[in-house]
Amino acid sequence: MRRSDTWWRGAAIYQVYLRSFADGNGDGVGDLAGLRGRLPYLAELGVNAVWLNPWYPSPMADGGYDVADYRDIEPVFGTLGEAELLIEEAHALGIRIIVDVVPNHSSTESAWFREALAGGPGSAARERFWFRDEPGGWRSIFGGPAWTQAPDGQWYLHLFAPEQPDLNWDNPEVHQEFHDVLRFWFDRGVDGVRIDSAALLMKSETGFEDLDEVHEVYRGWRRIADEYGGRVLIGEVWLPDQERFARYLRPDELHTAFNFDFLACPWDPEALRRSIDQTLATHLPLGAPPTWVLSNHDVTRVVTRYGRADTSWDNGARRDGAPADLELGHRRARAAALLAMALPGGVYVYQGEELGLPEVEDIPGELRQDPIWRRSDGTVPGRDGCRVPLPWSGEHPPFGFGAGEPWLPQPGEWRELTAEAQDTDLGSMLNLYRTGLRLRRDHLGDGTLTWLPLGPGVLAFTRESGLTCVVNLGPDPIGLPPHDRVLLASGPIEGDALPADTAAWIYAR
Ligand code: GLC
Repeated sequence: MRRSDTWWRGAAIYQVYLRSFADGNGDGVGDLAGLRGRLPYLAELGVNAVWLNPWYPSPMADGGYDVADYRDIEPVFGTLGEAELLIEEAHALGIRIIVDVVPNHSSTESAWFREALAGGPGSAARERFWFRDEPGGWRSIFGGPAWTQAPDGQWYLHLFAPEQPDLNWDNPEVHQEFHDVLRFWFDRGVDGVRIDSAALLMKSETGFEDLDEVHEVYRGWRRIADEYGGRVLIGEVWLPDQERFARYLRPDELHTAFNFDFLACPWDPEALRRSIDQTLATHLPLGAPPTWVLSNHDVTRVVTRYGRADTSWDNGARRDGAPADLELGHRRARAAALLAMALPGGVYVYQGEELGLPEVEDIPGELRQDPIWRRSDGTVPGRDGCRVPLPWSGEHPPFGFGAGEPWLPQPGEWRELTAEAQDTDLGSMLNLYRTGLRLRRDHLGDGTLTWLPLGPGVLAFTRESGLTCVVNLGPDPIGLPPHDRVLLASGPIEGDALPADTAAWIYAR
């Protein structure tokens, strides 16, 4: 594969939540064999890269974000040899591979943490983590205290679950370890890394979010990425302050970061316009491409969220179970897909978004696996509802996911949403994504935009190629501006009238 060094600037990146993508060996859990078998599907979908959630050996206390060994593959997912084959086969199809690196915390099952427990208080092995004689006052992001007591009486810090002890980034050994881990995967042909909880690494007496010292970490990582060339560093940076966010994208730090401001935005023309303008203002002066993200494995699926009375996203107030008009949500999700794909920069598609899957809200408590559910004593359902195994084909669960019973139950109604059912339906979500991603390759991606003033309820802009994206967020149909052709629309258009909650890509010579 030709390695253009800036391939990531306008890339469409598909997020594979491996446990739920496709199961190759029939144990009910998605794996590398399943993913390799479905690479042709991803090639046909038209994505440029795949980002995989953590695939490392893990006790799965947090779906693999509790990493026991950063240089191997979880046996339930496959082997390192299969991972290497996956990289090779994906490259042969023109798809790049991005892996998830989790530097903030490791696992209580990691060799380092075992050594720390065995070494006892005061040992060098404990210096790789945050051990103290007394617990601090912080709360875990998953609920409950952020400190847990080791058998010998000392306490260790975990910003997330107790099985995820935080690493001590004041210790040079930790820096060295991750430099080595980056090289390990880059040497195997991996094209980029998604950096988990990227702003939380450094800790001080006062806090842990976005401390200035964290930037030196990423300068070191960037030097390594640059040595290899064509590799991308993508930050998971949840920071509402755009100026603080932008600091991660300085030319000697990360290449891009997820745009959570856009993800959290309600389906509202003014809020979206503000978010888009602010995103462009933050990124363009830095020369960093924006990213456009509608969902991921941590948030409520778009079809459900856009069908609720409050369509915004808030990590702290998830609105689980609030009534949702799924038909309305589906229509808006289609329009939002065309908006996100048309904006300048990169776009992310979370697996199942292209099938229009809704959030699954009726998973029985005893089957839920997200630590948020347990740590909230069953009061917050957590993130399992967006992680249900994909429906591929057939009339009944497991819908071609694999031979065994999926690790989370799939709703029977998903028979209409399988990839097979949508494949030949030209009006399906799947075909909207396929066509959108194909057109995007030639007409959209990296660059900038020019807004068209079409009225208060409308977002309309033209890209360098001459493609204009018009999204009607108002209650009434609007007239499309003069054009030669409608390239793609998210719903039926009558004459030149674009109905409410509908988007169109038009072209004027
Ligand atoms: C990130 C991941 C999330 C995980 C957390 C702790 O936010 O996206 O899934 O639980 O980090 O690693």
